[in-house]
Formats: sequence, structure tokens, C-alpha cells
Amino acid sequence: MANDVSRRDWLKGGSAIAMAMLLGEGANAQNMAVPGFVPTPENPIRLGTNENPYGMSRVARNAIIDMFDTAHLYGRGKYMELIDVLAEMEGAKRENITFSGGSGEILKTLGLITAVEGGSVLTADPTYHDLTRYAGRRGVNIIQVPVDDNMTIDLDAMRAAYTDDVSIIYLVNPNNPLPTIMEKNKLKEFCLEMSQKCLVFIDEAYHEYVQNPDYETMVPLAVANENILVARTASKIHGFAGVRLGIAYGSPTWIGKLREFMTGGTNQLAVAGAAASYKDTETQDFCRRKNQESLAIVYELFDKHNVNYVKSNANFVFFETGQEATEVRQLFRDNGVLVGRPFAPFTTWCRVSMGKPEDMRYFAEVYEKLFT
Ligand SMILES: Cc1ncc(COP(=O)(O)O)c(C=O)c1O
Repeated sequence: MANDVSRRDWLKGGSAIAMAMLLGEGANAQNMAVPGFVPTPENPIRLGTNENPYGMSRVARNAIIDMFDTAHLYGRGKYMELIDVLAEMEGAKRENITFSGGSGEILKTLGLITAVEGGSVLTADPTYHDLTRYAGRRGVNIIQVPVDDNMTIDLDAMRAAYTDDVSIIYLVNPNNPLPTIMEKNKLKEFCLEMSQKCLVFIDEAYHEYVQNPDYETMVPLAVANENILVARTASKIHGFAGVRLGIAYGSPTWIGKLREFMTGGTNQLAVAGAAASYKDTETQDFCRRKNQESLAIVYELFDKHNVNYVKSNANFVFFETGQEATEVRQLFRDNGVLVGRPFAPFTTWCRVSMGKPEDMRYFAEVYEKLFT
């Protein structure tokens, strides 16, 4: 490296070569907006795991690069800065917040706590599987309550399914793979009532994508009550899926318990990037707008062909194919598109994540070729 250009300046320069080297060859080439990209079964468009196709914001990348200067030292780096950014954003105190290596670590830790301390997990079906799979493999009893006819988590049925043995109620809002939400007032009432009996844990992984007046975050309840906990993640709109940063909001008791049980935790680069990213509302607005553009393309396709689908409060759509999901997944893969895995009991439905609008136009072409 030339002496007059520091490594950091060179990386920050944003030239195509520097960026390509930073990201690894071809790492960012899995979408139709890249000139010359041809989707193949080996290098498909990634519409299977609800990632952000725009990646991390420029300010987050630069904050991570700056952090390299001290990343060889032990210590928490910008941990307290990130705590303060989020505390101010969410009206919480420092003791109401902790971090993890992706929110998956929080989910699994709660599964572990249940396995160690006893009790059952009450949740919806279908829903995200990290907590229940981890807990179930450690012998925890899992009670699953089917979603209602509108594909929404059925809070009355959850109340009815509660038994004295339940120690955690796990609710995902918006849910996944069904991108539906629970109505805010009903959910608040449920949280306040059921948290008298056990922990009510709300997973808000897709919070930043929601644009629905019936939705509300449960963070204010979590910081004001003993037994309500909320998880968020930087993996979705912030584009940190590979960097790994999760956030828990709750009472000092539950935050302390999570800290005691977690073994992985965060790294300084993820924390520094997140401290910048959560302040960068412009990039989040951009991603939300583009997500709506992509959703509109998919809705138009499905409306045109009278396909049953669940309108999205997140960055993915769930639609009926009438064929086994494993077969459908393979058909899409053969045509260069990676879609979601099968989600029992809806095994003849498919989940497609929103890529860039160009990706969704390609998805629409493939869909029409395969299914119309
Ligand atoms: C509902 C939900 N919760 C949690 C996660 C875990 O995300 P991460 O561990 O990347 O924070 C995901 C990932 O897709 C998810 O969909």
C-alpha cells in the first residue's frame, strides 16, 4: 500500500476494486441489478432467507472500518455508545438493554434457560423455529397453537392453551413464515395479562419493515414490566445477517439473566457498525421504500394469476403453490432462484423473500414459466 494512502482511506474510498476485495469476489453479485449477472442453480438469486439485498449502509461500513484500529484490544468498544443510541430511540434505560451475536442467540438462550430451570414453551404454529427447536432438542415440552383462518397468531387460542407448566410464551411479530401481525391493543392486553403468569417474549425481527397502523412494538411494555421481553435484530433492514448483532429489551431481571446465560455475545465491529446504522434513518427509509416496490411486483403477479397469498408486513410473501414445497424449491433452484424451505403444516405453500425490484421481475418470469 502506498505510504500516502492509509489502509483505512483506501478501503473507505469506495472504488469498485476496493469494494470487491472488501466483500470477496462475487460476494455481492447475486442479484439482477449487477450488470452481467446470470442466475444459475449454483449461483442463484437469494430469495430464501429474508436478507436485505442492499447490504449494509455506507456509514455502517465506514464505522466498522474505523473500528479496526482498536479491534485487536480486549474490551467492549462502542458497546455503551450503542446502548445509549438505542435507549434514547426506544425510551429505555441502559439496564433494559443487552446485545447478542444475532437475535438467534437470545432465542436459543431462552430455550436453554427453560431447559435448565424447567417449564414448557407455548408458541404459534407455524412460527420461527430457533427457540423451539433448540429447547425441544433439550427435552423441553413445546405447545404449538395453530394460527387462525386469517393466518394470524390466535391470542385467544394461546390463552386457552396455557397451562401452569408454561414458563415462556414466544410470539413473533410480524410472524415468520406468515408475514402477519397481531393487532396492537389485543397484543398489549395479552402481554399485560399473561406476564402475570410467565415470561411473554416477543420477537420483533422484522419491526423496521412494518408499515401497518395496527402494529405496535412491545418495547415500551418490556421496559416497564417485569416479565415481558422483546428481541430485535440488525440482520434484516440493517443488513447485518453475517455480522451478527441482536438486541434484547426487558426488565433488569431478564436482561441480567440473559447476560448470565449467554456465552457468545457481540464483537466490537458489529457493535460499532450498529451504533452508526441505527442512526442512519435515511438508508432505512430507502430500504423500506425499495421493499414496498418489490412487494408490489409480487402482488401484481399473484393477483394476475389468482394465487392465494398472505400480504406482507415484512420483507417476504407467503403464497400457495398447491405442490410440495420441496419440489417447488427445486424447480425454482433449477431456474436460478433460491426460495424458502418448507414450512409445516403449510407444505404446499412457499415463502419468497424480497430482493431488489429487478430480482422480483426475474422471479415473476420464472413463476410464470413454471406455474402458468
Ligand atoms: C422471526 C425471526 N427471529 C429471529 C431471527 C434470527 O435472526 P438473527 O439471528 O440473524 O438475528 C430470524 C431470522 O430469519 C427471524 O426470522
